[in-house]
Amino acid sequence: MKNVSIIGSTGSIGRQALDVASSNPEKIHVVALAAGSNVELLADQIRKFKPRVASVASENYARELRRLLGDNINTVILSGTDGLIAVASDSEADMVLTAVTGTVGLIPTMKAIEAGKDIALANKETLVAAGNIVMDKVAEMGVKLYPVDSEHSAIWQCLDNEPQKALSKLILTASGGPFRNYPAEKMSSITPEMALKHPNWDMGSKITIDSATLMNKGLEVIEAKWLFDVDFKDIQVLVHAQSIIHSMVEFIDGSVIAHLGIPDMRIPIQYALSYPNRWPNDLPKLNLLEVQELTFEAPDLDRFPCLKLAFQAGEIGGTMPAVLNAANEVTVARFLKREIGFMDIPVVINNIMEKHQIIAKPDLDDILTADRWAREAAGEVK
Ligand SMILES: NC(=O)c1ccc[n+]([C@@H]2O[C@H](COP(=O)([O-])OP(=O)(O)OC[C@H]3O[C@@H](n4cnc5c(N)ncnc54)[C@H](OP(=O)(O)O)[C@@H]3O)[C@@H](O)[C@H]2O)c1
Repeated sequence: MKNVSIIGSTGSIGRQALDVASSNPEKIHVVALAAGSNVELLADQIRKFKPRVASVASENYARELRRLLGDNINTVILSGTDGLIAVASDSEADMVLTAVTGTVGLIPTMKAIEAGKDIALANKETLVAAGNIVMDKVAEMGVKLYPVDSEHSAIWQCLDNEPQKALSKLILTASGGPFRNYPAEKMSSITPEMALKHPNWDMGSKITIDSATLMNKGLEVIEAKWLFDVDFKDIQVLVHAQSIIHSMVEFIDGSVIAHLGIPDMRIPIQYALSYPNRWPNDLPKLNLLEVQELTFEAPDLDRFPCLKLAFQAGEIGGTMPAVLNAANEVTVARFLKREIGFMDIPVVINNIMEKHQIIAKPDLDDILTADRWAREAAGEVK
């Protein structure tokens, strides 16, 4: 039995993780849950899984949650950053699934690692902002950090304990998002409604917009750099519209190992929870006769400059990836509120990156300061 805390339990990944837990009651015990503002759903999850502790983003939401639950529940209800940290470092948890969106996940993830918890990491922004610091802490504490992102789960499985020196290149696949073939001259009139329709995956709104701009792939490139200790020049992005090959690894002898499966996040979530074992499930199996063709193309960096910006930020290093990430979080939120257009997203991020005074070897405080600075700056650009 593995005791698991989930931060971000009401989101797309969190809900699917609880599906996996429901299907494996003899293998997974949910001990703590954290969410933001969706108190109705969290109340349902608490009634079903009876965690020891649960947390929401503010004390107002905590009051509402206590009211919804009434007196018959023993779960301790907390709030804010302290609540998030309590869930992430709950004394009974063996593993913490980090499924919040954005750098809000950074501090609880660090606290979970410091408390000796293994991590199932969906919250890629944590590694983008502070990959060096997080991976050093993982090594210092001797905990495991398993990827949940389907591409990184694929690479992890392709690597399968091969020595680092056998590795030649990581090939991250990208669906290309809803605008893969959209004409360049129409890109600036893309609306939030259009960008929120992903062809292959059903995800939270921030990552769905990131998939439409290809910033998601850029964030994944930086995530891969830290997870697998490779240079950026050895990471290739390939657009693969069918989302069947989740990523590939090329080895020095020219062999390429690919990981295939249906596009369903419950598979990589389950693997991060079940590793080193594989558990059966009721999901449909991949039918390649139905898929018929697997296609590949190079990403178009002119129509999708966010991917280029992410490679640049990663190569520059220091505080720059944290700045890219924070500026992206703010510009995506502003695009969703219709304050800026779709093609303004890379323009604003580039503008903020150009203004940033880089700290080459940042500590956690430097990262958090750079993150705050970039958020403010990106919020002000007209
Ligand atoms: N969705 C996918 O298929 C997918 C695939 C690969 C990687 N990922 C990564 O997984 C992470 C989560 O993505 P998602 O699509 O699941 O996002 P999502 O659906 O938007 O869910 C985000 C979760 O974070 C919670 N949250 C937000 N602010 C919070 C705060 N201040 N304190 C505590 N909880 C807070 C939300 O709570 P409320 O809803 O209650 O406010 C929700 O539970 C992201 O880093 C994403 O890049 C997602």
